[in-house]
Amino acid sequence: MADYLNRAWTMASRPDGEPTPANFAIAESAMPEPKHGELLIRTLYLSLDPYMRGRMRSGPSYAVVLEPGDVMTGEVVARVEKSESPLYKVGDTVLAKIGWQEWAAVGAHTVKPVDTELGPVSTGVGVLGMPGMTAYFGLLSVLKPRAGDTLVVSAASGAVGAVVGQIGKINGCFVIGVAGSDEKCRYIVDELGFNAAINYKTQNVSEELAQLSPTGVDCYFDNVGGSITDAVFDNLALKSRVAICGQISQYNAAEPQLGPRNLSVLTRMRGTVEGFLVYDFELQYEIARARIAGWIKDGRIKYKEDIVDGFENAPEAFIGLLTGKNFGKLLVKVSE
Ligand SMILES: NC(=O)c1ccc[n+]([C@@H]2O[C@H](COP(=O)([O-])OP(=O)(O)OC[C@H]3O[C@@H](n4cnc5c(N)ncnc54)[C@H](OP(=O)(O)O)[C@@H]3O)[C@@H](O)[C@H]2O)c1
Repeated sequence: MADYLNRAWTMASRPDGEPTPANFAIAESAMPEPKHGELLIRTLYLSLDPYMRGRMRSGPSYAVVLEPGDVMTGEVVARVEKSESPLYKVGDTVLAKIGWQEWAAVGAHTVKPVDTELGPVSTGVGVLGMPGMTAYFGLLSVLKPRAGDTLVVSAASGAVGAVVGQIGKINGCFVIGVAGSDEKCRYIVDELGFNAAINYKTQNVSEELAQLSPTGVDCYFDNVGGSITDAVFDNLALKSRVAICGQISQYNAAEPQLGPRNLSVLTRMRGTVEGFLVYDFELQYEIARARIAGWIKDGRIKYKEDIVDGFENAPEAFIGLLTGKNFGKLLVKVSE
């Protein structure tokens, strides 16, 4: 291994609007050597997630922001290649927040084991990982849907949205997904069992919602913000609940975008809006993971992964995530 070099993707410069390949640079370094209590891990899958765009921005954040030259933030599924700790042995699969890197030496207490009995290892950063947890807690702990409620979810074919809609169905909701292509819309209805889908690029979301749910939208799981969210607000029902999970339509905006300010609907409808971070629910992840794994096993939850081959392709894939080029949970396969 001494002959190998480790590779990492760094943020070369802060993007101004949409990121470009020039905002990323590969850094090579000597192979790390684990010290006492550490592991040498090799990335199998790198998870690409929308929150990474926020880390590239300066200004207030709930997390540490990147400076030019820093390794891009991220979580990986990795294999233990050397162990200097009794906690893990060579061959174990772990989750590690080492960023966009092929190899790392990490303290054994900083990683989490992946239960390979529950599903393929890639699901550790997907349906059984952070996005799955986000869907589960954002829906069941924040929105708290009741059977018969109309539930709308945006970015509905994505890592979080697809799970939200399916758990909504399990809980007896009438589920409407909003997505960015006919193919994605067909998938969420025909494969995932959503009641209806709206293609926001070709249809009028507000008018479609009014037709699909004349009594209004009881629960809105907002992944995107912007004009889609304005359209859902036009249609909120009495005592409706909105969970602000993400605002991906705004992540590349250099300046905050203005839009219709239709918040008085919340007064009229006695509505509630609540933002949340998945990490607020960290202590309950194991319960959620076991339940989602059970639903996958009995066929009630399906998942789709969009796997890009090759570490060198990570920036291009990430840029595409922010404009909807991915179809399913976006991963980079880094090694076998
Ligand atoms: N609060 C939390 O703790 C938490 C945790 C995880 C994720 N999130 C948020 O959840 C959301 C979904 O994340 P994910 O990992 O599941 O990603 P994803 O849905 O798998 O991928 C992102 C999707 O967003 C849609 N999109 C991109 N640009 C858009 C735009 N301008 N307008 C509308 N839709 C756009 C695209 O789908 P279409 O083709 O359908 O447009 C794209 O495929 C993100 O906002 C993310 O920040 C929040």
